[in-house]
Amino acid sequence: MFITFEGTEGCGKSTLIQNLAQDLRESGKHVVVTREPGGITVAENIRNIILHQSMEPLTELFLYEAARAEHYKKVIEPALRDKKWVLCDRFTDSTLAYQGAARGLDTKMIIKLNEFATEGREPDITIVLDLPVEVGLARAKDPNKFEAEGIAFQNKVRKAYLALAKKNPKRFEVIPVEDVDPEGVCALAIHAIVEKAQALKAQAAKGKKK
Ligand code: TMP
Repeated sequence: MFITFEGTEGCGKSTLIQNLAQDLRESGKHVVVTREPGGITVAENIRNIILHQSMEPLTELFLYEAARAEHYKKVIEPALRDKKWVLCDRFTDSTLAYQGAARGLDTKMIIKLNEFATEGREPDITIVLDLPVEVGLARAKDPNKFEAEGIAFQNKVRKAYLALAKKNPKRFEVIPVEDVDPEGVCALAIHAIVEKAQALKAQAAKGKKK
């Protein structure tokens, strides 16, 4: 299973991923927890550049995709080949939401670059944690470059995630998290993952019969 986690700033992705990884490991699964941009030295170095220096939107896009190419080939693809569960904090949908919807870069170009960087591998399941952006931003103690872009920018990102989820309900699950504690969010995520995993299994079995 390849599961990605998306959302605007301060939505609680990291806590959810930690809790989920613990639950999955306790049930005997081999789990790899990773993140984008990052997850491996070259990509973590690129992360440092992106988050701490100002640059052209196109430069930023190429850096995200460069980090992704390295991360996918060296971390995600081998883990999936070994039948591990990969929990990835942000992935290709972040680029569509941030560089596409919020920065205004061409979506078709981003889709192509995402495909190149990931050899066309999409996540099996994508969990979007949805939160009013004001609430998330208020949680940021030391705002990064994107948090500092402010409410209008974050609202574009949020809207983009909801639109992506609406377009692809099979892969996406949106979990509203404003009034839910971390344990509750984890329970909702597990429920969604079990349902979606069963649907994927049924679909694969159907494919085999044909
Ligand atoms: P994080 O704070 O969730 O670790 O993510 C780092 C920042 O990078 C976050 O503000 C969102 C941004 N980002 C993009 O703009 N495009 C991308 O493709 C990815 C993966 C992250």
